[in-house]
Amino acid sequence: MVDVLLGLQWGDEGKGKIVDVLAGNYDIIARFQGGANAGHTLVIDGKKHVLHTIPSGIFHPDIINVIGNGVVIDPVSLKKEIDGLADFNIDFKKRLLISRKAHVTLPTHRLIDAASETAKGKAKIGSTLKGIGPTYMDKAGRNGFRIGDFELPGWKDKYRALVDKHLKLLDCINVDIQFDLDELEAEFFNSIDTLKKLKFIDGEIYFNKALKDGKKILAEGAQGSLLDINFGTYPYVTSSTTTAAGVSIGLGIPPKQIGKVSGVFKAYTTRVGSGPFPTELFDETGQLMAKKGHEFGATTGRPRRCGWLDLVALKYTVDINGVTELMMMKSDVLSGFEQIKAATSYKYFDQEIQHFPFNIDEGNVQPVYTDFKSWQADLTGVTKKEQLPKTLMQYIAYIEEYISVPVKIVSVGPDRKQTIELKA
Ligand code: GDP
Ligand code: IMO
Ligand code: MG
Repeated sequence: MVDVLLGLQWGDEGKGKIVDVLAGNYDIIARFQGGANAGHTLVIDGKKHVLHTIPSGIFHPDIINVIGNGVVIDPVSLKKEIDGLADFNIDFKKRLLISRKAHVTLPTHRLIDAASETAKGKAKIGSTLKGIGPTYMDKAGRNGFRIGDFELPGWKDKYRALVDKHLKLLDCINVDIQFDLDELEAEFFNSIDTLKKLKFIDGEIYFNKALKDGKKILAEGAQGSLLDINFGTYPYVTSSTTTAAGVSIGLGIPPKQIGKVSGVFKAYTTRVGSGPFPTELFDETGQLMAKKGHEFGATTGRPRRCGWLDLVALKYTVDINGVTELMMMKSDVLSGFEQIKAATSYKYFDQEIQHFPFNIDEGNVQPVYTDFKSWQADLTGVTKKEQLPKTLMQYIAYIEEYISVPVKIVSVGPDRKQTIELKA
């Protein structure tokens, strides 16, 4: 079986931390979509590590980490990530496998990302500028460059043809983007040497054999379901299928092999980049969440927008993913607030609705809140569920009833150890 762990909000829910915590139960951890736009933070013995393309099982010595075909790989970013882990004696050759069918982000994809965003002006997506949209555009447009191409003679011609096309496209977009192509290419070609030291596999064959051999696989989501290309707050989304259905196409395993689907959410909500966010707070409460939660993007360092938990949106993403268990993160951040709120319906053009509507523009959706009693105690030292405040347990019980899915894990701090299992 392949279990899935993914984010239910707009990303940064704490996926990396939980994958690292659960990794010991699995033989293989696999990324199925996204690319260097992801920033997954792991805190091990007080030391922080941020992963972008490498799956979050890399710090466990016996676990194989696979980058699946649905991921887009920027060799420059991957090299930096690998170099950054030099002190850990990780045998990347054995422990980090890459699907030949994964697409490659070229330096010019990053340039097109920057140019497109500049051209959009105020309507920009707020992209991480990692070239994600343009790489998936070339994939869907059947122009893409894949990891397996590096093994074929003449790959440089293929690379050059694509770069030439990109340069023409940049001319058409016609905004002033400063770049030194020679420098970008030197960095790119240098990173290919590191990439080629890793093992390339036919991921779909590898996974199906692993399943026949009884191996346990955990698929690690990147971004969040509200950033999904089909079901997110389009066009303010990323360019991949971040939802559970993406596991099948992003790894090459049959849908019937999917077992548990764990949905990770914060006890409140954050969003980085542009786009609608019904429960966003613009007041001191929002600022306090940002400050206590250290809400800055792990990839770009941008401040994250903050607001109350949105149960209407959460129910929507739970349904789309078929979530079987929930994991609530950053409960410690809400300690000490006067009152806790969660949106339980929306006022939508003078109607009260409980579904996530097609059109969420500023002003047409107002959250209708339910109030909850707060908890004051510092949770960061809590180690047993019995020590959790009653009011926090009431908040959890309400969420479970609203969503009809159990909350299995409560996280009370960034460290591996600050994780409390509510249900076995
Ligand atoms: P991801 O992209 O879903 O892996 O999440 P990020 O790593 O981008 O953002 C989550 C942030 O919250 C990171 O800085 C984590 O170290 C931190 N974090 C995770 N769980 C908790 C928690 O329970 N409490 C607190 N205070 N921080 C947490
Ligand atoms: P993890 O895996 C939060 C957001 C960007 C932007 C939009 C499109 O760490 O949860 P893109 O670079 O894909 O073109 O950006 O999506 N975004 C994320 N927000 N966490 C992420 O990943 C994100 N990856 C992309 O801010 O609004
Ligand atoms: Mg993140």
